[in-house]
Amino acid sequence: MAKSVKSWWRHGIFYQIYPRSFQDSSGDGVGDIAGIIERLPYLLALGIDAIWLSPVFPSPMADFGYDISDYTGIDPLFGTMEHFDALISAAHASGLRAILDLVPNHTSDQHPWFVESRRSHDNPKRDWYIWREPAADGGPPNNWLSEFGGSAWEYDAVTRQYYYHAFLAQQPDLNWRNPEVRHAIHDVMRFWLRKGVDGFRVDVIWHLSKDAEFRDNPPNPNFREGQPQHQKVLPLHTTDQPEVHDVIAEMRRVVDEFDSRVLIGEIYLPLERLVTYYGKDLAGAHLPFNFALLSAPWNARAIEKIIHDYEALLPAGAWPNWVLGNHDRPRIASRVGRDQARVAAMLLLTLRGTPTLYYGDEIGMHQVAIAPDQVRDPFEKNVPGIGVGRDGCRTPMQWSAAPYAGFSELTPWLPLADDFAHENVANLEADERSILSLYKALINLRKKWPELVTGNYVPMAAEGDLLLYRRQGSEGSVVIALNLGAEPVSLASEALRGEILLSTLMDRRGEKLERVLDLRDNEGVIIGTSGTHAG
Ligand code: NOJ
Repeated sequence: MAKSVKSWWRHGIFYQIYPRSFQDSSGDGVGDIAGIIERLPYLLALGIDAIWLSPVFPSPMADFGYDISDYTGIDPLFGTMEHFDALISAAHASGLRAILDLVPNHTSDQHPWFVESRRSHDNPKRDWYIWREPAADGGPPNNWLSEFGGSAWEYDAVTRQYYYHAFLAQQPDLNWRNPEVRHAIHDVMRFWLRKGVDGFRVDVIWHLSKDAEFRDNPPNPNFREGQPQHQKVLPLHTTDQPEVHDVIAEMRRVVDEFDSRVLIGEIYLPLERLVTYYGKDLAGAHLPFNFALLSAPWNARAIEKIIHDYEALLPAGAWPNWVLGNHDRPRIASRVGRDQARVAAMLLLTLRGTPTLYYGDEIGMHQVAIAPDQVRDPFEKNVPGIGVGRDGCRTPMQWSAAPYAGFSELTPWLPLADDFAHENVANLEADERSILSLYKALINLRKKWPELVTGNYVPMAAEGDLLLYRRQGSEGSVVIALNLGAEPVSLASEALRGEILLSTLMDRRGEKLERVLDLRDNEGVIIGTSGTHAG
């Protein structure tokens, strides 16, 4: 299939950068934009097509940038607008796309809009946020809970009302029922689109609309102690409201004012709800992020079912996507173990749909244990001790064995993993069987074999720890066999005649198969079957 510019986000591979932790160039222990520019050659050699940057806008950093105080600036911690423009130019000059994080659900409480809004009942910005009278007893207006602990309502003594915040009290929610808010955010989008950004990943897009009647959320009958407190109620009236689809369709129209841009939505919902975010007539998000693998039990049958259900639920014409890690969830290498992290990489890069990689997963970075006095994440601070902390998956990128892993010349803002002297880009680049070499080989194969990008997903019968599927193109097919277990497996089938293109252990390329495949423990292979042609 000819690649059109319009489909770059279908054919390409996304890579999420958490800017605070990627590369520090200014020597303050926090990553920055100039650091990202320095590392573009690494990203090009890896072979990814687009970067997504977590927020780099001015922010008091209560939630590390997800609390924005100026939507159209760059926080000095990350550099200047000149640095940003230079990044976009350099990325584009080398054929990389760049998308930004858009955080339209809430601002910082330091944003001038909120500073105005909280001044008085009749302030012109009052209705830009969600203000309510106290309940009869003076308490919060209803039982809505903050994802980061406690009531989602904060009392403001100045005007004696409560404002709503789905996350921190320092992150008041904008009122998306107010057309002025919608227009203001659309203008923010246009500002960055004019600068040449290739689209947005929209933060908590399924949160944007809330119940107009502010009804109480029902109790969650499945709540168990040890779960985050906000799960005590079901978010029936606070998220995934029918009105949100019009809001998203409007955003999509803004994105479509510009050529070849993409709108990605951050959405944690069951698959049948997730797929509604493609919108009526696909006028919603191009890619509602599919996070199913982030919480999937790591067993072949469960994953086979997820893939099957997702494929079956996709609306006609909707393009799928898969995510294995992000800055909010434990690292894949810790969720499934080092050996299976390789199998997971092969899964991600052979499924049908745009893959998104999380920085550091390609070098097998694991979750770093954070001592109580080193905790930075407000979620962990508010809801301590039950494992919700996100610092462990946000630690500095491990570039080399140099002091501070080549990330910075100063103590980094979060601790480095203690294995960085071995597990780093320089070492792994030199090792042709490393996980980094595997990622590169997988990305390369995906570029060479059109079946892996545009081929249909065809499940093949398998049992136990084996996950087996074919990617069927018009001219041939590729078979993927993944052993999710720690015991070898043997399988025989006519469909396996062909040649091994890649093993996760990087030592079987070119091996001919005549019906029988012996997989070692924790091994996955990609097989080019007869009649497959490299693109
Ligand atoms: C989702 C972001 O991914 C997360 O990091 C952040 O804390 C919340 N949205 C609130 O903005």
